[in-house]
Amino acid sequence: MCGIVGYIGPRPCAPILIDGLRKLEYRGYDSAGLAVLDTTQVAVGEAPKLGIVRAVGKLSKLDDAVRERPVPGNVGIGHTRWATHGRPTEANAHPHMVGDVAVVHNGILENHVELRNELQAQGRKFLSETDTEIAAHLIDIELANGARSLLEATKLALSRVRGAYAIAAVSRKEPDVVVVAKSFSPLVLGIGEGEVFAASDVPALLAHTRDVIFLEDGDICELRANAVKIERLLVHGDGSPERITVTPVVRHPKKVDWSPAQAEKQGYKHFMLKEIFEQPTALENTLRGRVSLDDGDINSGEIGLAPEDVKDVKRVILLACGTSHHAAIAGRNWIESLGKVPATVELASEFRYRDAIVGPGDLVVSVSQSGETADTLAAVRDAKKRGAKLLAISNVVGSAIPRASDGALYTHAGPEIGVASTKAFTTQLSALLMLAVWLGRRNGKLTSERARDLLQKAIELPTAMREALDSDGECEKIARRQLVQTDAKDCLFLGRGLNHPIALEGALKLKEISYIHAEGYAAGEMKHGPIALIDATMPVVVVAPRDAHYEKIASNVQEVRAREGRVIAIVPRGDTTIANMAQDVIEIPDVDPELTPFITVIPLQLIAYHTADLKGTDVDQPRNLAKTVTVE
Ligand code: AGP
Repeated sequence: MCGIVGYIGPRPCAPILIDGLRKLEYRGYDSAGLAVLDTTQVAVGEAPKLGIVRAVGKLSKLDDAVRERPVPGNVGIGHTRWATHGRPTEANAHPHMVGDVAVVHNGILENHVELRNELQAQGRKFLSETDTEIAAHLIDIELANGARSLLEATKLALSRVRGAYAIAAVSRKEPDVVVVAKSFSPLVLGIGEGEVFAASDVPALLAHTRDVIFLEDGDICELRANAVKIERLLVHGDGSPERITVTPVVRHPKKVDWSPAQAEKQGYKHFMLKEIFEQPTALENTLRGRVSLDDGDINSGEIGLAPEDVKDVKRVILLACGTSHHAAIAGRNWIESLGKVPATVELASEFRYRDAIVGPGDLVVSVSQSGETADTLAAVRDAKKRGAKLLAISNVVGSAIPRASDGALYTHAGPEIGVASTKAFTTQLSALLMLAVWLGRRNGKLTSERARDLLQKAIELPTAMREALDSDGECEKIARRQLVQTDAKDCLFLGRGLNHPIALEGALKLKEISYIHAEGYAAGEMKHGPIALIDATMPVVVVAPRDAHYEKIASNVQEVRAREGRVIAIVPRGDTTIANMAQDVIEIPDVDPELTPFITVIPLQLIAYHTADLKGTDVDQPRNLAKTVTVE
């Protein structure tokens, strides 16, 4: 996700825009830029200059650049980027200018490939790899085709795109207007005295106003210093003028009483909790534009590899650390069960030192949120040296591990600020699921019917995830009763099959933020040792969704109960068998057995979060840990 800002009013806007971007830096920070209409010195009959400054890196780089090259004027837009398409370079930084128009955008235009091809065929030249530049071209084209205003041109342009956007545009031809529009990506307006602000999120507004209009999907607005026009854009077809319906809407400002710090967390107490609740949206953004239900496949070009890269693949080796390693274990299961390709999972820190047998015919898939983990990077380089094909699954475009690989499949989770990984984990799962489906369709061992069925259910997952998030209150009570009030010193997590890595992940979450020792175990392993640990002081979290392992897990619960262990059971809605044996129960919605990890992990994240919060540990920055482990 990125951050966008806009301003129109009586004041010089560059410092206002930069300060707004600073408040949005948690949304993305690989590059930034401003476009400002210089209405201070306009020759008669001339259009004002549109000053654009962009810089790669943190916002401080943009600040420095603006100091070197001031951009005077009181109408402008700004952007801080979290790359999804195109590496973090100045050319890919926003704003993108085409003709007299500059555009900033947060979101993903799903049909960016077909639009880019269409515009290039018309002779349009592109200066960046981004989907956003396409929007700037589309607006420029509509103005050239006679659109009477920037607002009208933007409506027509947006009727051509599919996907998510929060967009802001300015034009030299209309220096007293900023146009903004929203679809699936957040956008709010701040209403001041004779000035109007636009931003991706409330923090960017609070220094100037607390009167905020929360725009809705389909809203498109023309902002003037003393007037805001909001319309609803309804697109009917191919976007030609008569196929657009525009209806005026009235949206009343709401008074926001958040502190700036609270606002950065959108009212959540910690970034980790916000990111747990962002998971449905992060999943939607990661799947968006990549799934073809018509073909029952993954859109070509989205996996980061070409079919010929895998036609002779004999084995997939997954490399990762920590939470990403747990995602990789689930990925291994899918790559074998759906992709029908032999697969193994390795801890990167072990793989790199064991003189592994790896080479041509091996597809080595690294999983890393940061794309910078030293152990994973070293293991990837070692595999590359030995002749393997490398695919990186990462959340940071242009980071070291994707750069060291042959291809990259990026998650679109947006920046993950909490050290404990949550939304990155579930989006990694979705990337691995897409890879497994893609492999199975390439070798013909996964039918398009089964693939279509699974992908349709994957697209519907955010609804079930939101239902699972409704257990937040129950998870807090269980954390308090079973882990905090008892001053628990240990906790066991049990799971089978696809939920074995979920048990591992639940244990890691609890131990890394609450400092309670926790272990995740394959439930079938209980009788081989861990059952000796069970007594009345041991809380045991059992992950038991409706799948082929349910009966076996039920007998594991009996074993635990027979030794007075305290069972916290994650069970299907309406379950009675396990529920009647457990002290505490979290019910989760039913999903396809292949997709249960996306749901079962949520109560475990919430139980870990509330335990840590109740114990008063530093949830977002737990002791001894760093968000990215760039040392060995
Ligand atoms: C997970 O909550 C931890 N923060 C940690 O285990 C993390 O997953 C691990 O360090 C790997 O990081 P990466 O995904 O950026 O490579």
